Amino acid sequence: MKAIVRVPTKITVFGEHAVVYGKPAIAVTIPRFILVTLTPRNDSKIEVHTHGVSARLSSIVLERDSNNVISQAEPADLQRIVNYIITALNLCEDLLKEEKKHGYNVEVRSELPPSIGLGTSAAVSVGVVAACFALHGEDPLKRRGDVAMTAWRTEYKVQGAASPMDTFTVTFGGLRYIEPKNFNAQEIVYRGDLPLVVGYTPRHGTTAELVAKVRSLRSRAPLILNKIMDLIGEVVEEARRTLEKRDLEELGLLMNVNHGLLSSLGVVNEVHDRIVHVLRRAGALGAKTSGAGGGGAFVALASSSEDSDRLAKLITGLEAVPVATQIWRRGFEVLEY
Ligand code: PMV
Repeated sequence: MKAIVRVPTKITVFGEHAVVYGKPAIAVTIPRFILVTLTPRNDSKIEVHTHGVSARLSSIVLERDSNNVISQAEPADLQRIVNYIITALNLCEDLLKEEKKHGYNVEVRSELPPSIGLGTSAAVSVGVVAACFALHGEDPLKRRGDVAMTAWRTEYKVQGAASPMDTFTVTFGGLRYIEPKNFNAQEIVYRGDLPLVVGYTPRHGTTAELVAKVRSLRSRAPLILNKIMDLIGEVVEEARRTLEKRDLEELGLLMNVNHGLLSSLGVVNEVHDRIVHVLRRAGALGAKTSGAGGGGAFVALASSSEDSDRLAKLITGLEAVPVATQIWRRGFEVLEY
C-alpha cells in the first residue's frame, strides 16, 4: 500500500511581500512538478529519500518519537525538507485524530531546486498531507480545503511566517486570486494562452530572511512602507480586472510597476534588474522579480505563445534557467493509491 501524489509548482504573478501584510496576490501553477510517495512501515521510523531536491540522491532515517537521526546522508541538504515532512505528517495525523504515530517511507522527487520562489516547499507540504489523507482513508481531492489549510499550517510552523498563497495555489491549481485574511483562493477565469515566461537565477537569502528584511524596513519608515504595500494591493486589484478583460498590454505594464515597487522594498538584485530590462527590450510586455526576491524566480509576459519560446531561449543566454513558457490549470493529483 502506498500513495503517490503529484503537485505542481507555482509562480507569483503579482503581490508578493504585500500578501504577508494582508493584501491580495495573484499566483498561477506551472507545469513543473514535485512527486511525493508515502508508504507506511511496520515500525515508527521515517525514512526520507529525495531526488533532485539537492544535486545528489539523499536519504535520512529518523525515529519518529524522538526525531533522532538513526542513519544519515547529506543531513544539511535534507534538514529543511525533513522539517516540512515531519510537521506535515504530525499535523495531518492530529487533524484525522490518529492515535498512533505511524512510520513511513517518504520519497520526494523534484524537477526544481528548492528556495527559488517557485513554491517547492509548499508543494512538498501539500504532497505529504494529501498522501497522508489518502493512506488514512480520506479522499484528499474531496477535502482540498483541509489539505491546503494543513499544508499552510506546516509552512507557518516550519518557517515562523507564511502567507497561504503558495499552499492554496498548488492545492487548487490554475490562476488564483488569493485573499490571505480569509484563506480564500478564488479562480480567475482566463481562457486561452497566458504566455508567461518563467525562469530563475541563484538566490541569495531565504524567504524568511527576505521577509524579515522587508519587516525591518517597514519598522524604520512605516508611513511610506505601508503606502507601498497599499499600492501593491491596488496593482493586484487592477491586474485581476485586466486579466478578466484579457488586456495583455496593460497586464505587462502592471508587472513592470510591481517590479518597481519590489525594488523599493529592497528585494530586487542587480542580476534581475538587468534581466527584466533585457526581456522588455526584446519585446516582453512586462517582466518582474517573482517571490521573495534576492534573485530566484522571475516572470515575463510575452505577446504570444510563439514569442514566449523566443524569450525563453534569450533567458539561457542571460545565465538564467528557463522553467516554463505556459501555465498549468490543475492542482495536486493522486496518481496512485
Ligand atoms: O518563498 P517565495 O520566494 O515563493 O516567496 C514567498 C512570497 C512572500 O510573499 C515573500 C512570502 C509569503 O509568505 O507569501
